[in-house]
Amino acid sequence: MTQQTRIFSGIQPTNNLTVGNYLGAIKNWVSLQSQGQSNENQVENLFCIVDLHAITVPQDPTLLHKATLETAATYLASGINPKQSSIFIQSHVRAHTELAWLLSCMTPMGWLNRMTQFKDKAGKNREKAGLGLYAYPTLMAADILLYQTTHVPVGDDQKQHVEMTRDLAQSFNHHYNEDTFTIPEPVIQGEAKRIMSLRDGTKKMSKSDPSGFSRIHLTDSPEDIAQKIKKAKTDLAPLPDSIVELEDRPEAKNLITLYAAFQNMTIDSALKNVAGQNFASFKPQLTEVIISALTPIRENIATYMNDQSELMDILNNGSEKASHIAEKTINDVKETMGFVKENN
Ligand code: TRP
Repeated sequence: MTQQTRIFSGIQPTNNLTVGNYLGAIKNWVSLQSQGQSNENQVENLFCIVDLHAITVPQDPTLLHKATLETAATYLASGINPKQSSIFIQSHVRAHTELAWLLSCMTPMGWLNRMTQFKDKAGKNREKAGLGLYAYPTLMAADILLYQTTHVPVGDDQKQHVEMTRDLAQSFNHHYNEDTFTIPEPVIQGEAKRIMSLRDGTKKMSKSDPSGFSRIHLTDSPEDIAQKIKKAKTDLAPLPDSIVELEDRPEAKNLITLYAAFQNMTIDSALKNVAGQNFASFKPQLTEVIISALTPIRENIATYMNDQSELMDILNNGSEKASHIAEKTINDVKETMGFVKENN
């Protein structure tokens, strides 16, 4: 019997994507996608641009529109192949919002109160935070469960949301005594792929950090990249020859992680190339590595953005395929819950 594998993941279209999004998420999706091809099992990949998640904090409409298309262009430019994967915009498949409501009625507030991302994002302004930001994990659960997803590749920071998704699916199945939802597994990225801020090696590189020098965007020009690496925080010691010696040097570790990841090397083998060097000699090499990896991606993104007809065709196709799966699930769920079916 062939086992159906379904992979689902998504990125929010807020600001343009960084090398952290690329190395920590998209590059990994690309390799999952090609593993699926060599596998006898049937693999279905769904990569979504989660615009409905983006509006959990205020967005400028013009920027949201642009970032949504640019995120889709970035998936394609980075190697997500529309012949092997469905690429689509979350708001194009209405079942996401519908299932999110159904699930939110079954989500205990106690579970949501424990979500660390809400606490971080709402901060001291908890009273002013929107209901959507609070309910965000139920929308994410809907994304995943709609497609009977088996595997969810995510960063460490999203693990808690995937666990809540599992709990919700289990409690639904148990309550209605049916196997309505597949229980998804998180696939957590290794620490070697976790890219940190260039200004503070203990903080994740973020699209929303107030400092532009904290991150490298995939659309940055070679000059910008050179500038940002030049300004990146470091320490005074030369580079060591093994990763264990980087434990208490977060900035050094982050730069070598970038150097290794862009060349598909392990950190230890990357260190063999550069051990003993100081940052004045290492930084120009790192800059070169990043520029040569990002140039084709940047050019590809620009091509998709300059003539958007191909991009829109791919997105329409993606949402059509996704809707097909999603409709089946939402109909099953509603029938199970006792909703009257429309007669047409
Ligand atoms: N919450 C995720 C993030 O901010 C994005 C996301 C939304 C997602 N829905 C998802 C990731 C479903 C994986 C699966 O990074």
